[in-house]
This record gives sequence, C-alpha cells and structure tokens, in this order.
Amino acid sequence: MDPMTEQTAVNHASAKIVPQLPDMQTVTEVKHYTDRLFSFRVTRPASLRFRSGEFVMIGLMGDEDPETGKRKPIMRAYSIASPSWDEELEFYSIKVQDGPLTSKLQHIQPGDGLILRPKPVGTLVHDALLPGKRLWFFATGTGFAPFASLLREPQTYEDYDEIIITHTCREVGELTYGRDLIEALKTDDLLNEVIGDGFWKKIRYYPTTTREQSAKMGRITDLMRSGEAFTDLGVPPLSPENDRAMICGNLAFNLELKEMLESYGLNEGANSNPQQYVVEKAFLD
Ligand SMILES: Cc1cc2nc3c(=O)[nH]c(=O)nc-3n(C[C@H](O)[C@H](O)[C@H](O)COP(=O)(O)OP(=O)(O)OC[C@H]3O[C@@H](n4cnc5c(N)ncnc54)[C@H](O)[C@@H]3O)c2cc1C
Ligand SMILES: NC(=O)c1ccc[n+]([C@@H]2O[C@H](COP(=O)([O-])OP(=O)(O)OC[C@H]3O[C@@H](n4cnc5c(N)ncnc54)[C@H](OP(=O)(O)O)[C@@H]3O)[C@@H](O)[C@H]2O)c1
Repeated sequence: MDPMTEQTAVNHASAKIVPQLPDMQTVTEVKHYTDRLFSFRVTRPASLRFRSGEFVMIGLMGDEDPETGKRKPIMRAYSIASPSWDEELEFYSIKVQDGPLTSKLQHIQPGDGLILRPKPVGTLVHDALLPGKRLWFFATGTGFAPFASLLREPQTYEDYDEIIITHTCREVGELTYGRDLIEALKTDDLLNEVIGDGFWKKIRYYPTTTREQSAKMGRITDLMRSGEAFTDLGVPPLSPENDRAMICGNLAFNLELKEMLESYGLNEGANSNPQQYVVEKAFLD
C-alpha cells in the first residue's frame, strides 16, 4: 500500500499529543557556516509586518522541570536577517555550546517548530535616520544580521548613493555568510529588476579579521582611527552632512564606535527622533 495514502486507526498507543503552542512557525532551511555560526529560514506568520533591520523574540521549548514537570519556552532576541518583503523569515545565529537556547537551536532541522513572537522592534531602521548621501553599516560577528536584511531592502538604494558595509570577525570563516549574501545580490534577478539593474554597485564591502590572516587585518575602529580604512575605501572620514551610520556588534565595539562617530559630529537617532546614526547590541553580556 502507498504509505502516503495508508490509513491506520489512531489508538492511545500511537496518538501523540501535539502541543497547540501559539506563535509556532516551521523551519524550512538550515545552513551551517562554522562550528559557531549557522543560518536558518522559517515560515512567516501572515500577520507579521516589520521594518527591515528590526528584531523579534524567537525560541524553543525548554526541558521538563524535574520538580514541576512543566516545560517553559526559552526565548531570545534575534534580528530578522531577511528583508521586509520576503515570504519567509531568515535568521543568522551564533552557537553557544552551553547557551540555554543555542545549545538546542543549533540542532534544528527543516520541519521542526520554532516559537516566534510577532512583535518586531528595533532602532536599526531607515526611519531613525535623517536623509544623507552615504550609509555605513558597522558590524562585528552576528551583528551582520540586521544588515543582511537592509542590504536586500530597496529603500537602502533609493535613499543613498553609496552603502559601505564593514564586518569585523575573529576568523575568515566567520565572514562567509555576509560575503556570500553580498555576492548573491549581483545575480538576484528580482532585486535587479525591482531596484534597478546593477544596484549592487553602490555597495562597498570592507571585511576585516583580527585573529586569522586575511587580506585586511585589524579592528575597524583601529583602521578608522589610523585613517587606513578611509584610504582603502577612497572616502573622507564621516561627516554629519553626508554620512549616516548603523552600528551592531558587541557592547565594547558599540561604545567605542559610538564615541568615534560623536567625535566626527554625528548624533544618535531614534524612531521618534531621526538623526545621523543608530546603534543596537548584537547580544547581551
Ligand atoms: C537586540 C538583540 C538582537 C540579537 N540578535 C541576534 C542575532 O541576530 N543572532 C544571534 O546569534 N544572536 C542575537 N542576539 C543574541 C541572542 O539574543 C542570544 O543571546 C543568543 O542566541 C545566545 O542565546 P543562548 O540562550 O544560547 O545564550 P545566552 O545565555 O543568551 O548567551 C550566553 C553568552 O553567549 C555570548 N553570546 C550570546 N549571543 C552571542 C552572539 N550573537 N555572538 C557572540 N556571542 C554571543 C555572550 O557572551 C552571552 O553572555 C541578539 C541579542 C539582542 C539583545
Ligand atoms: N571557539 C570558541 O569557543 C570561541 C571562539 C570565539 C569566540 N568565543 C566566545 O564567544 C563570544 C563572542 O565571540 P565573537 O568572536 O563572536 O565576538 P566578539 O568577541 O564580539 O568579536 C568579534 C569581532 O569584534 C572585534 N572587537 C571586539 N571588541 C571590539 C571593539 N571594542 N572595537 C572593535 N572591534 C572589536 C573582535 O576583535 P578582537 O579579536 O581583537 O577582540 C572580533 O574581530 C566571546 O565571549 C568569546 O569568548 C568562543
């Protein structure tokens, strides 16, 4: 008998209790990059509207509490890495071996469930910036995620003449997700048609590593301080007249870069008060 059409009577032994969890989405694709990084895609709730660059809370059910026998969801903030127009949602994730969520999340497979609270928020949005000529995306590690969304958002190219994305990681393999994504824009027929053929020529990609040899070594902050990054890119240091910036990295990076941007005369913006730069943590420490 065809196993697809075979009908078996459901009895108590074969029936599984399927928990009717609200906000459950289905994993559609998983890609692993290094032993510490992976990306995955999930179905998108029909009601979810978000602005490219925002984050949501996602999670999995935790283990049974040995005392109460109850299971609680483990929820964490995640930047949506896909653009606002995409049918599915993409996430780019760290694997923390003893992390409550990612010790489990790193094992997800297509078909598995993921809890997603459909309440997007965040400051890395176009609305929080005043008009400008050049947009800088500054990322370390998984801080690339919101920029993966914004790099596929038509408004990014409508609003700016040039987009500079800097990504600082410890090792070369940690750049793969970002590098592949930017490379894929060149042959993305849909985006080339919607935004304009060759839109990707506005992107300047500046990847650097700090602990493994690569074409450009060093922290972006040091490379800017010495002037090397500006010489490499052939642009002047940031100015409040022309430049806008979004920062997403570890806390020390965010603070250091924030101070540098303020010294160039840029002010921090927010949804309610658009200015010249915005900042968000890639994770809490
Ligand atoms: C606004 C916001 C957006 C976020 N977006 C993302 C995202 O898009 N992708 C993502 O992987 N994480 C993101 N995070 C971090 C995420 O919320 C979790 O911390 C992460 O998934 C690890 O969860 P955990 O339960 O396994 O470990 P946790 O207990 O949450 O973290 C354990 C430790 O691991 C380290 N750590 C946590 N997250 C990271 C990270 N992303 N990179 C490097 N070290 C980390 C920190 O030292 C932390 O103290 C975001 C956090 C915030 C606040
Ligand atoms: N195999 C492992 O178990 C392993 C490997 C790597 C990391 N980790 C742990 O995972 C956590 C996160 O590591 P991560 O590499 O993803 O993120 P990270 O420590 O935030 O580093 C990412 C990149 O940001 C750079 N950076 C850090 N502070 C900066 C600052 N103030 N200004 C400019 N650049 C700055 C780092 O350079 P520097 O290299 O110069 O700091 C690195 O290139 C850490 O707690 C770490 O201990 C574990």
